[in-house]
Amino acid sequence: MSIFQSLNQSRRVRWLLPWALVAHGCMLFTASAQTVPTAAASETKPPAPTYLRDIQPILMGHCSRCHNSQARFVYDWLDYKTAFRDRWEIKRRIWDSWKGSYYKESMPIQNSPESLLISEEDRQLIRDWVTSGAACGTQPVDDGHKSKSERVVLGRKLFNSICAACHQPTGQGLPNVFPPLAGSDFLNADKKRAIKIVINGRQGEVVVNGMKFNNSMPSFPLSDQDIANVLTFVYNSFGNAGLEVNPEEVKLFRAEPPDPSGPPAAPVKNQYE
Ligand code: HEC
Ligand code: HEC
Repeated sequence: MSIFQSLNQSRRVRWLLPWALVAHGCMLFTASAQTVPTAAASETKPPAPTYLRDIQPILMGHCSRCHNSQARFVYDWLDYKTAFRDRWEIKRRIWDSWKGSYYKESMPIQNSPESLLISEEDRQLIRDWVTSGAACGTQPVDDGHKSKSERVVLGRKLFNSICAACHQPTGQGLPNVFPPLAGSDFLNADKKRAIKIVINGRQGEVVVNGMKFNNSMPSFPLSDQDIANVLTFVYNSFGNAGLEVNPEEVKLFRAEPPDPSGPPAAPVKNQYE
């Protein structure tokens, strides 16, 4: 074996190994189908979108109220294998859609304002992900201690890609559909309860700032760090109480059973049934 070949081999192994270790949710067959990116390719073009880094956050915000692991009649887009299998149909609904009056409306169901709020950039990411081979990728590793202001910066990004789809970029929510996080008496009254809602999701009746809501929020596949960051951002924005949430608290409450959260919400009806 020439020096060149062995160098090349060890580089390949170094690249694949961490990939394989962190890829729990990912299918390994896409790893072998993927070609190792060369330096030249990554210099000329931005890297192709990956599921864990770019696509799953979009699906969390815009699709997961219906497409989640508890859903009985619709596919779970938070599962890589399922999203991978149905990727062309996802792309078609996001991008080409059904033309006519449904153009670019992935789910033209009246009660899904969050799927209509998907941005042009998000549509392009999903299209590019599908056409570039729909790689799973790796979750950005986020460890180590963060200051409160670092959490706010990281949390803002997460808020905009996930929570804003429903709670709106201003945190004001939508009347009768999504409760406000801006100046929310419910949020500010009980930090532990808020953390547990983001861990477990919530459904049923809730009264926020005197307004009644009865809907459901899914639970998201977010790490303790992510939840700490996003809630620290929320608590330090929109006129809220300025509290900080750290990952140790999230870890602790994750081990507890979810709070009872009202009667289960009515199942989402399939308009074609
Ligand atoms: C309000 C609930 C709801 C939301 C939110 C929602 N969907 Fe759906 N989705 C459904 C239902 C119900 C069906 C089954 C009926 C149908 O095919 O339209 C479905 C079916 C689909 C299918 C067809 C699956 C197949 O191959 O049979 C795709 C693709 C899809 N959704 C993509 C999306 C994407 C992408 C989003 C987010 C942008 C999204 N949906 C958001 C309720 C929802
Ligand atoms: C798919 C839509 C959706 C997304 C995305 C979403 N939520 Fe919610 N959220 C809801 C709904 C609906 C409720 C009310 C649930 C109920 O009726 O019990 C809620 C309730 C809440 C509450 C308690 C009520 C309040 O207004 O204070 C908090 C806190 C909260 N969400 C935080 C978040 C955070 C943080 C994120 C992002 C990680 C997020 N949500 C993403 C739909 C969503």
